[in-house]
Amino acid sequence: MNTAKFITFEGVDGAGKSTHLEWFANALRQRGIDLLLTREPGGTPLGERLREILLNQPMHAETEAMLMFAARREHVEQVIRPALQRGTWVISDRFSDASFAYQGGGRGVPLAKLEQLEQWVHGDLQPDLTLLFDIPIEIARQRLANNVSLDRFEQERGDFFERVRQAYLARAAKSPQRFAVIHAEQTMLEVQQALAKIVASL
Ligand code: TMP
Repeated sequence: MNTAKFITFEGVDGAGKSTHLEWFANALRQRGIDLLLTREPGGTPLGERLREILLNQPMHAETEAMLMFAARREHVEQVIRPALQRGTWVISDRFSDASFAYQGGGRGVPLAKLEQLEQWVHGDLQPDLTLLFDIPIEIARQRLANNVSLDRFEQERGDFFERVRQAYLARAAKSPQRFAVIHAEQTMLEVQQALAKIVASL
């Protein structure tokens, strides 16, 4: 039986998810698990080109949503599905929950349209587990303040991120069996302890 798992990491910019993702991946590797790390938007040559555009080029919110899902279609077909089929675990730094949070919550793209895209692009594939790094927006903003260059999303105002955060939490409330919500304002050690418990449960 193929038991390879598909795990996604989510959260507002500045929640620290990418740092924790490295730690989590290493903890799984130490247990002998063969895994692939990838990210969205991106993860394929075309996806990385779309990422460059999405992070820098102003566009209509629905164009943004469709390009996110176009990159995702490529990612699912070229990378995620083949890896899972050969028994390799996949950890993706963001997936469709980010579209519901950023394009849905942040930009106001109607949920029904995003649900249609989700159904079209990966109707039969959902993550087995999603780690949502939740953090008060003021703290996330302070962490971002140290960055020298901010992309189009990171430059958004606090109220945008508050909507993104709430949309993530609503999505987690809808599928509690898939989500683990991590309180990302805790110390690095406390977050790692929470992650270690999740690794053990896997
Ligand atoms: P990253 O900084 O975590 O790599 O993500 C890049 C940005 O893209 C981040 O600000 C969130 C945004 N994003 C969306 O708006 N919608 C999506 O579907 C994805 C995957 C990312």
